Amino acid sequence: MEKIRIRGGNPLNGVIRIGGAKNAALPLMAACLLTDERLVLSNVPHLADITTMANLLGQHGARVSLEGAAGNGGHVGRVMSLSAPEIADTTAPYDLVRKMRASVLVLGPLVARAGEATVSMPGGCAIGTRPVDIHLSGLEALGAEIEVESGYIRASAPGGLRGGRFVFPKVSVGATENMLLAASLARGETILENAAREPEITDLCECLMVMGASIEGVGTATLTVEGVERLSGARHEIMPDRIEAGTYAMAAAITGGSVELEGARLSDIEAAAAQLRKTGTTIETRNGGIFVSRANAELVAADVETDPYPGFPTDLQAQFLALMTVADGASVITETIFENRFMHVPELQRMGADITLQGNAAIVRGIDHLTGAPVMASDLRASASLVLAGLAAEGETEVRRIYHLDRGYERLEEKLRLVGADVERLEDDG
Ligand code: UD1
Repeated sequence: MEKIRIRGGNPLNGVIRIGGAKNAALPLMAACLLTDERLVLSNVPHLADITTMANLLGQHGARVSLEGAAGNGGHVGRVMSLSAPEIADTTAPYDLVRKMRASVLVLGPLVARAGEATVSMPGGCAIGTRPVDIHLSGLEALGAEIEVESGYIRASAPGGLRGGRFVFPKVSVGATENMLLAASLARGETILENAAREPEITDLCECLMVMGASIEGVGTATLTVEGVERLSGARHEIMPDRIEAGTYAMAAAITGGSVELEGARLSDIEAAAAQLRKTGTTIETRNGGIFVSRANAELVAADVETDPYPGFPTDLQAQFLALMTVADGASVITETIFENRFMHVPELQRMGADITLQGNAAIVRGIDHLTGAPVMASDLRASASLVLAGLAAEGETEVRRIYHLDRGYERLEEKLRLVGADVERLEDDG
């Protein structure tokens, strides 16, 4: 195993290149199962979750290859070519699914194209129970028969899926994506209400439309999909990763630095930007990317409540909380999306942070400075918050179990080093 060692105190200054969005890439990759033609995705981030999805798609008969770095429009991500002329196997086994919850995204495309799918239940996850009931009832509304047996979801629609109306009982990003993928090949019209509006969903819709899908209401909570008999291949550039951008924006803020986030889109993180401005951080569009600075300003406490898009993203909650540990004043951070998403709190407390948990809220009283300590990453975004804390802390911080980080942040320590951080990846023999 590896760990990251940070010697805190350096303000970040310079340019950070933002990669393609992991959470957009995963459903886009699953879309290759909908067509026998080739899907070419550019700006693909180099991350463990992408490899997991590629392996899973391979299991279903897709051929996945990397075409090297893309030169188009100055974008650096990799180009991935996916083609599934036939579905060789409709089973997504436990060994692959347990590594990544988003594996459940193959369910919709497999039932739609092959008439059946057997997908292992993703099971529990560190940040709460995260069930898949909405994915399943949604597919039932499209005519699929679903059974859950021995830890596996079996879905079948021998005569194909048919359009239907489905109202999401709760906003779910993954379930909205699964339904969009499935409805694109269903017979007739599907109306999805209370759908998630995350930019990653818009990215998926745009690619599906190039593949020949007919979708109305893109970007809104009501999506109308007119199913088509077959979809074609497409080329699509994956949107920039707004969570990576938000994380580095907060890293600049916590260290009192100034960075330019190349390739990032401010419009995707407006809610987080609004809160950052309240803390005294400047954040604006510059050179087609985002400029963030807290070079000459006090860091002031601000409250945050997570909400589905366009609200403050739960995936930036841990990082914002870390920022608030050294702000002037007290802030209340309320988590409304996931239960149990405060596992970074005890670790931050070990670095001296003053945080009280009350149900789904954390009350953070800003202190003068954090102190470096050995800490343990528990999930992807929690690990990022510990890195941020380490960048601002006095002394040395070691973040263990960084395989969580590698699921979602490409070359994190390299990107941080380039803007002046003292960060190193080491073998963890402890
Ligand atoms: C996606 C993101 C994740 C982000 C989350 C919320 C990907 C790969 N992951 O996860 O990074 O934190 O959106 O923005 O894009 N729920 C149910 N039943 C279901 C499905 C969800 O009760 O069938 C609940 C979940 O437990 C959670 C809430 O709905 O409380 C939102 O989850 P959802 O939007 O589905 O998250 P994911 O798609 O898993």
